[in-house]
Amino acid sequence: MAAEVERTTAWAQANAHRYRWDFYGDVDGHGRVRGEAARLFTADLHAHPERYVAASLPDLPFADDSFDLVLSSHLLFTYSDRLDRAFHRAALLELARVSRGQVRAFPLVSQIGRPETELVEQVMADLAAADVRASIRAVDYYFEPGAGSMLVLDP
Ligand SMILES: C[S@@+](CC[C@H](N)C(=O)[O-])C[C@H]1O[C@@H](n2cnc3c(N)ncnc32)[C@H](O)[C@@H]1O
Repeated sequence: MAAEVERTTAWAQANAHRYRWDFYGDVDGHGRVRGEAARLFTADLHAHPERYVAASLPDLPFADDSFDLVLSSHLLFTYSDRLDRAFHRAALLELARVSRGQVRAFPLVSQIGRPETELVEQVMADLAAADVRASIRAVDYYFEPGAGSMLVLDP
């Protein structure tokens, strides 16, 4: 975990011009927030291992309507170079199945910061065809320029 924080801090340092710094302040602030998040996560994982379930989309080992809210961050749309439309459709329908509330997927840009407008529209059409209501909403926090929106699936 520490090695991963170090790796991303080095990346942020070398690529600082690519990001927005209003939330973290600077590269050190980014490292501090990520380091603290990693520390809290590791401590909670050790203290409450029963809270964590390893699983892989598009199939989740949870009953229908298991959660009040489902969040997916930096997976869908981020890896559009290797996860296709069919994967996104299946993954979002699965996330909707296990949520009794909203599903929120963020951001809607690829790993290289390219807006995934076409894929988002295709997936929204797939969801509409499956009777799942989806909309794009603005978010306050985002780190990558152009990444200020999320896809919200309403129950
Ligand atoms: C870029 S990381 C994002 C981590 C975290 N959600 C965040 O926003 O900081 C992408 C994550 O997607 C997870 N992942 C990759 N394939 C997955 C799949 N098929 N189902 C669920 N998670 C997957 C990886 O293990 C990794 O933790």
